[in-house]
Amino acid sequence: MQDLPEADRIKIRRLAMQDFTFFLPTRVVFGCGKVRRVGEECRRLGGKKAFVITGTTATATSAGFAAMLESMREADLPFEVYDRIEHDPTLEAIEAGRQAALQCGADLIVAYGGGSPMDAGKAVAMFATNKGAVEEYLSVKKVFKLPGLPFLAIPTTAGSGSEVTAAMVIRDDERKQKTGLSHPLAFAKTAVIDPETHVSMPPAVTAATGMDALTHAIEAYTSKSHQPFSDAFCLQAIRLIGENLRRATGNGADLAARSRMAAASTLAGVGFTFASLGSVHGLAHAIGARFEVPHGVANALMLPYVMEASIIADMPRFRDIAAALGENISGLSLRDAAFAAVDAVNILKADLDIPRCLTDVGVRERALKDITEDALAYRLRPLAPRDFCRADFQRILNRAMGKP
Ligand SMILES: [Fe+2]
Repeated sequence: MQDLPEADRIKIRRLAMQDFTFFLPTRVVFGCGKVRRVGEECRRLGGKKAFVITGTTATATSAGFAAMLESMREADLPFEVYDRIEHDPTLEAIEAGRQAALQCGADLIVAYGGGSPMDAGKAVAMFATNKGAVEEYLSVKKVFKLPGLPFLAIPTTAGSGSEVTAAMVIRDDERKQKTGLSHPLAFAKTAVIDPETHVSMPPAVTAATGMDALTHAIEAYTSKSHQPFSDAFCLQAIRLIGENLRRATGNGADLAARSRMAAASTLAGVGFTFASLGSVHGLAHAIGARFEVPHGVANALMLPYVMEASIIADMPRFRDIAAALGENISGLSLRDAAFAAVDAVNILKADLDIPRCLTDVGVRERALKDITEDALAYRLRPLAPRDFCRADFQRILNRAMGKP
């Protein structure tokens, strides 16, 4: 190949696999009862005082949370609990968390809960060492320069995958926007995943967060920046979710299903970190910033509509998804096999009692124009399998509103 003219070498290289890097800096400690190892894991990170972030809901009074705090006492690790993170943390909540963490002199951030507390913990860890207002990082794209405080994440839902991603979603109520910040320095040092802490999750939360994880895996598997490592994580996540999300929702005490969903969520988190999300998330963030719709529900609502509009861009990948979700695709044409993935998602949604239309969750017609503009501006849109234009988004949203 070295003997060939440069023009020919370029042509040949275009046929090669896309270049990629893969690096997972998070130590993953997985298993039932592992929440009792958190104190030891904090010590392993060299922490002398932990700032423990959790939500304002029942999580802070749960047995799992108590067991985690007990493990910190046993490890002789002082800590301060900060239980003021509501769902979808706002930039004001992150600022307040940063001030509280600095005031208490913490040198380690621990987050216990779903995607919101984990994103908040990740953000507080980064903003504790990086100067400037949170707002500057969102609006004028100021960039993190320094590593954050060491961050340890304990997910109590199987959805966001935030324990292994570099991303954090922050809500800006003034601009009615949800913005994703991401930086390679923001990964958690350690993720402790204990499926026993998932058992008390209500069925609706299990279903919605599970659909979030499925959306991560499907969007990453079909993104233009997919690569063999992310493919492996995404396909296994899709398989595990297809086999276990109904069980985990129908019987929360089913630890086998809970364990597999917990693993699937983490796998999908790794998958989308090294590939990308796409227009389902672009639309879901725009919807969630304007209406009280949980992130997983917004994703589940938009997922089949975006999938069916995306299929022509990469039918073999959607066929793979159908197979991973357990559809019998033997004897089907490539097109029919690819569309079987949409059917599988719609049936899963129906089994889980997830709303079918945007109108079911209170989305108003007059908001569609702004939602479309936000989806067009979504930073990861260029990596989605199909390049949707304004008219495409309007069509997708009309379908999701229940119009023909
Ligand atoms: Fe998500």
